[in-house]
Amino acid sequence: MNKTHIDLTEYQQRRNRLLAQMPANSVALIPAAKEVTRSRDTEFLFCQDKDFFYLSGFHEPDALLVLVKGDASDTAEQVAANVDVNESILFCRDKDPQAEVWQGRRVGPEAAQDEYGLQHTYGLSELEQVLPMYINAQQSLFFAQGQDKTFDEMIFAILDILRNGVKQGFSAPASLHDIRPMLAEMRLIKSDAELDIMRSANEISGNAHQRAMKFTKPGKFEYQVEAEILHEFASNGARTAAYGSIVGGGENATILHYTDNQDVLLDGELLLIDAGAELCGYAADITRTFPVNGKFSDEQAALYNLVLESQLAAIATIKPGSNFAIANDAANEVLTRGLHQLGILSGDIDELVAENACKQYFIHGLGHWLGLDVHDVGDYQMDENRRQLRSFEPGMVMTIEPGLYIDAEADVEERWKGIGIRIEDNILVTANGHENLTVNAPKTIAEIESLMAG
Ligand code: GLY
Ligand code: MN
Ligand code: MN
Repeated sequence: MNKTHIDLTEYQQRRNRLLAQMPANSVALIPAAKEVTRSRDTEFLFCQDKDFFYLSGFHEPDALLVLVKGDASDTAEQVAANVDVNESILFCRDKDPQAEVWQGRRVGPEAAQDEYGLQHTYGLSELEQVLPMYINAQQSLFFAQGQDKTFDEMIFAILDILRNGVKQGFSAPASLHDIRPMLAEMRLIKSDAELDIMRSANEISGNAHQRAMKFTKPGKFEYQVEAEILHEFASNGARTAAYGSIVGGGENATILHYTDNQDVLLDGELLLIDAGAELCGYAADITRTFPVNGKFSDEQAALYNLVLESQLAAIATIKPGSNFAIANDAANEVLTRGLHQLGILSGDIDELVAENACKQYFIHGLGHWLGLDVHDVGDYQMDENRRQLRSFEPGMVMTIEPGLYIDAEADVEERWKGIGIRIEDNILVTANGHENLTVNAPKTIAEIESLMAG
């Protein structure tokens, strides 16, 4: 059974950890996402704002989480007991039987208080009256300014009212702060419960890649393979993909964000699939590349093994204290030496390695943080040469995804053209090294060919 649940107490701990970093007399505002119109009166499948979800676990649109950090003059006992000092408040859609018949159930403010472990809850109908009172007389205000213009306008209107209400005893916070960096740092280090979900998301996604390999043969269309993947996700509890699945055969595999997925798959081509499930809000992000007819050609096998060797070299460097720059150096060196050996790069090998000559064909970054977002939050601490020097710590999860893309225009022998290969796994930093979360998506040529031979 997949573990798809985070306990209420973990959400409360997250809010308390954020509150602990805020100064006394401050308030933080974290809005939920809004529904987005697809066309006329239909909406895209709702996706909750990930910061809001991280702090609340609340699934509905049009809500607002308010965290109030109390006064430092509260008694030591109150502070110790977290009583009346810090408060979590939720504004959410009011219950409305008529609307719920048409649009679906709502939790409502009354039930939300216990279900989500909040000190106070209000209906949205009370927002205009009540929200200014939570901001009034605070010294600092934290929110993600610029994320949503309508929300910004509402907050600035409230600040104006408070500034203009000195005679009524109102006062506005003197300082505004961006809440995002604090939340990004928290989200970057995953808890045990988050890791359980990410392991499950990876297992479901790995099974989907297996299913795609078994299904694929010449004459199938890319969208038919995508349908197999989405079926495997949804029928195992992950209703949606974490991002638009990339299913690209032949030269389509050399287009990095190819999501048209409309072409027929041809004998002799490779198929690149970059697809991961979203489970309980958390993303998997896995890429596999395999031959449409089940058997790698010599050229495909040579390049595939090179990408695989570079990925294994990069993964081997991952441990606490290491960083993306070190992993990148390892992958680049393997790719550059291999491309030179195959005659795709020519020149002095030491110079080629020094200048990372493989980047001509490995045209994107090695990887990224992974979590609630596929390209997850967290500072990479880049230097002026864009080397990502942030030290890895236990609990960080990242992708490692080297690739080679040789399109029809490339200045290489004909036999290498139209080959796009990427191999992407999800790696957790552990106390002593790393754990590869992507355990069941076949990766070696022998594993892939044997699975596809049925
Ligand atoms: N699926 C997007 C990426 O690999 O970064
Ligand atoms: Mn990725
Ligand atoms: Mn990917």
